[in-house]
Amino acid sequence: MRIKEALAQARQLLSWVENPQKEAALLLCAHLHEERPWLLLHEEDELKEAQGYFALVSRRQEHEPLEYILGYASFYSRDFCVHSGVLVPRPETELLVDEALALLKGCDAPRIVEVGVGSGIISVMLALLLPKAQIVATDISQAALANAQENCVRFGVQERVQLVHGAYLDGVTGVFDLLVSNPPYIAQSSLLESHVLCEPHTALFGGARGDEMLVELIWRASQINIAAIACEMGYDQRASMTQALARVGATTISFYHDLAGLDRGFSATLKEKK
Ligand SMILES: C[S@@+](CC[C@H](N)C(=O)[O-])C[C@H]1O[C@@H](n2cnc3c(N)ncnc32)[C@H](O)[C@@H]1O
Repeated sequence: MRIKEALAQARQLLSWVENPQKEAALLLCAHLHEERPWLLLHEEDELKEAQGYFALVSRRQEHEPLEYILGYASFYSRDFCVHSGVLVPRPETELLVDEALALLKGCDAPRIVEVGVGSGIISVMLALLLPKAQIVATDISQAALANAQENCVRFGVQERVQLVHGAYLDGVTGVFDLLVSNPPYIAQSSLLESHVLCEPHTALFGGARGDEMLVELIWRASQINIAAIACEMGYDQRASMTQALARVGATTISFYHDLAGLDRGFSATLKEKK
């Protein structure tokens, strides 16, 4: 079978995805360890080990996220390793990185703590964009911490990102300019698509209402020396976040929107400790 025939067949098998042509090509690149321009120049070539390619296509047909099959996900124009058992980076989380950068403007060597590091996209990007930043990042998942460590090494920031196995801020000491987090915030009863349900549920569901972990995080952040907080949240969580932030005396509370115009996160200044 020639490469162009294999691609045509895969496109048909993947007709249910948003962009079958792109996915068929990306899976073939992963199978052949080649870049996309190479495919265009070699369409007439015979495809070696076609069954290996169609094994990848059939994983996708089973609704496994494309990023798990490819082993990477694009975030902030970089390719991050991502493995099954760890949340796939979402494009809207780039907005949280932008929010953190805006809050830290003028801070030469910021000290940052991230809760729920996952694949490491937020901490690694902040370390890359703020070359003097020191970051501590926690997660309850060993799979996530291993994936984050891989990305820290991949981008050469492992000296400035300390990974801690633990819940919330357990085991974290010191004074921080910013707490940043994209915690699980989906309500337990939400109906999710099957490819999303392939991702770890501890990374998706925040509790019965969904906002439980965010509320707890705001409370815990208020108990130690953290100057500001920025978090991603659900589109319908503005009221409960406003309440939780007001309860701990937070000021300059503001919400940001995603590209669909929905509430997607907040930032606030926390009370200074004596
Ligand atoms: C929505 S994912 C975010 C991952 C990554 N920061 C990102 O934006 O792609 C939430 C992460 O929080 C972790 N997590 C869940 N509960 C936690 C807790 N109580 N303390 C610390 N991390 C937690 C999960 O294991 C998961 O890696």
